[in-house]
Amino acid sequence: MSQQSDFERFKNLSFEDFKKLATEDSLSKYQKIGFPDSYRKDKEDAIFLDIVHKLNIEPDKDNEQGILLDIGPGCSELPFMILNLCQKANLKALLVDSQEMLDHLPSEKYIEKYPGYFPDDVPALVNEYQNKVKYIIGYSIFHYVFYNTCIFKFLDVAVSLLKPGGKLLIGDIPNISKRKRFFSTETGIAYHKAFTNTDTLPEVKHLQPEPTHIDDGVLMGIIQRYRGFGFEAYLLPQPDTLPMYNRREDLLIQKI
Ligand SMILES: C[S@@+](CC[C@H](N)C(=O)[O-])C[C@H]1O[C@@H](n2cnc3c(N)ncnc32)[C@H](O)[C@@H]1O
Repeated sequence: MSQQSDFERFKNLSFEDFKKLATEDSLSKYQKIGFPDSYRKDKEDAIFLDIVHKLNIEPDKDNEQGILLDIGPGCSELPFMILNLCQKANLKALLVDSQEMLDHLPSEKYIEKYPGYFPDDVPALVNEYQNKVKYIIGYSIFHYVFYNTCIFKFLDVAVSLLKPGGKLLIGDIPNISKRKRFFSTETGIAYHKAFTNTDTLPEVKHLQPEPTHIDDGVLMGIIQRYRGFGFEAYLLPQPDTLPMYNRREDLLIQKI
């Protein structure tokens, strides 16, 4: 499949679309999670290291088994890396995704799988793990939740699971304001020309509604909301080793 047709195919995916991708044998593990191969092949080590660094994942010092929740782990190499780390760091791993995605991931004693859409389909997890989870990862998922679900319901429930000191990382968020800023610069234009191998200019339209897109206003509002609720909340940049660092960023919320 060509890269261009991948971009079209993977543009607006719903949870149901991901279920179908997960079971299509002709697709690569990256295409199954909605990425053209070029965006993820040989890049997932760097993504993994960035996640571990931002969450500061380490074995529990008090020797109690800590808990890590991955919302929407998908089925490429990344969840395998996260699960290996959980095993080494003596963390229980909770995974929420469609059954079709979860079927690609290992079943081990330290792993609990919750098939379905977070938070609506997993009340058992939500009830059992209130105030108990040390690390929550939701990587490359928020833009699929935005506009399909109430993002505040998603985040309110997620932060209710955090134990004191626990951290929620919503990673790899496409921010249309950041994209517009970047592609309005000489650097962004040169990047676009090199990436597309053309002499065209990137399409950037300012001062118009952008339905379905996350922007600065959405992200700043989230920061303000959870700070107002008594959490610490930050927007974090991605290192330039990551495939979309110039138009995506990460959100970290910590329960104090
Ligand atoms: C783009 S993939 C990212 C997978 C993985 N986190 C990664 O970055 O490699 C998005 C994944 O999130 C899942 N997903 C989307 N919304 C979800 C929700 N509300 N609850 C659970 N899983 C969800 C999809 O089924 C898919 O596996």
